[in-house]
Amino acid sequence: MKNKNKLILVLLVGFVGLQFSRPEKIDHGMRTQDLVNVPKEVNTILRSSCFDCHSSEANLRWYDKITPANFLVNSHIKEGRAALDFSNWSSWPKPQQNSTIYYAINKVLSGEMPIPSYAAVHYSAKLNAQQVEILKNYALSLSPRKVADSSQVNSSGKQYNSWIKGELKHPTVKPSPNGLEYIPDYRNWKAISTTDRFDNGTMRIIFGNDIALKAIQEKNTNPWPDGTAFAKTAWKEQMQKDGSITTGEFIQVEFMVKDAKKYEKTKGWGWGRWKGNDLKPYGDTPDFDKECIECHKPMANRDYVFTSPLYLISQLKKIQK
Ligand code: HEC
Ligand code: HEC
Repeated sequence: MKNKNKLILVLLVGFVGLQFSRPEKIDHGMRTQDLVNVPKEVNTILRSSCFDCHSSEANLRWYDKITPANFLVNSHIKEGRAALDFSNWSSWPKPQQNSTIYYAINKVLSGEMPIPSYAAVHYSAKLNAQQVEILKNYALSLSPRKVADSSQVNSSGKQYNSWIKGELKHPTVKPSPNGLEYIPDYRNWKAISTTDRFDNGTMRIIFGNDIALKAIQEKNTNPWPDGTAFAKTAWKEQMQKDGSITTGEFIQVEFMVKDAKKYEKTKGWGWGRWKGNDLKPYGDTPDFDKECIECHKPMANRDYVFTSPLYLISQLKKIQK
C-alpha cells in the first residue's frame, strides 16, 4: 500500500513537472470570418470541424493545454495551417476558392479529415452523416460536370472518333503567332502522363515524341535534349447518366518543342496552343508565349516541364546513386 502511494506521488510530481515543458506558443483566438459565397450551413460545419487547425482561430479545450497533449495539438495546428488556412479565404481568386473547398470536402469524404484521432476526442470536430451529406451536396453543386444529354454524347463521340482517325489533321492549320508549326503527328506519339482537373472538369493527356521517350529511358531529362517535343491535349469531362466520365468536347492541344539555341529567348522551348475542333492558333502577338512561361516558371529547375517521368522506386534509387 505504501509503495503504491509513493508511485502515485512520483507520477503526480512527474506530471506536474512536465507542465513546465511547453510547446512554443501559437496564435489563436483570432476569429476567422465566415467564408464569403459559401452557404451558412457549410460555414457552420467547417468552423466546428476544421477551423481549429485550418484558420487563425483555434478553439483549444482545457485538455489540449496539458503536456504532452499540447505538443501534439500544436503540431497539428501548425502543419494544418501551413497546408490550408481558411483565414486567407477572401484574398483568393474565385477559382482558387472553388478548387480549394472542393478538394477539402473530398478529404472529408475520403475519411482523411478531420484527423480521425483528433475527432475521436473532440466531439465538435466529428461529423455525422447528415453533415457529410451537406458538404457532399455543396461540393457537387460546385462541380462543372453536369449530366450530358444524348445529343451531346453523340456529337462528342463523333468528334473523338475523328480525332482517333486523324481527321483533325487539317493540312491548313495555321502556325502559332510565334512561328511554331502545328504537328499533326502527335497523336502517334506515346502518352506519358494524364492529369485531371476536378475543379474545372477537364481531363488531359500528355504525349512525348521518340526523343522524349528515349530521354526518359536514358534518364536524361534535365535538361531535355534538343528535339524533345511534348503535346498536351485537353477534353471537357462529360458525365453520363450513371455518373461515369468520358471525354467530351475537344478543348485544345498545346506543344512544347525543345531547341536550346533556336528558342533561347523563350527558355529553350517553342510554345504553341491550338484551340477547338478547327485548331485555331492561340495568341494575338508573337510574344503570347510569355503567358506559358510565366505559369511554367515554378518548374524552372526542371527545364520548365511539369510532367516528371515515373520510375519504379528501385530505379529511382539507382538514379540517385
Ligand atoms: C487536428 C487538426 C486538424 C483538423 C481538425 C482538420 N485538419 Fe486538415 N490537416 C491537418 C494537418 C496536420 C494537415 C497537413 C498534413 C496532412 O496533409 O495530413 C491537414 C491537411 C489538410 C488538407 C490539405 C491536404 C493536402 O494534401 O495538402 C486539407 C484539404 C484539409 N486538411 C482539410 C480539412 C477539412 C475539410 C477539415 C474539417 C472537416 C480538416 N482538414 C480538419 C490537421 C487538421
Ligand atoms: C495556368 C498555368 C499554365 C499556363 C498558362 C500554361 N501551362 Fe502548360 N502546363 C501547366 C501545368 C500545371 C502542366 C502539367 C500538366 C497538367 O497539369 O495538366 C502543364 C503542362 C504542359 C505541357 C506538357 C509538358 C509539361 O510541362 O508537363 C505542355 C506541352 C504545355 N503545358 C504547354 C503550354 C503552352 C504552349 C502554354 C501557353 C500557350 C501553356 N502550357 C500555358 C500549366 C500551365
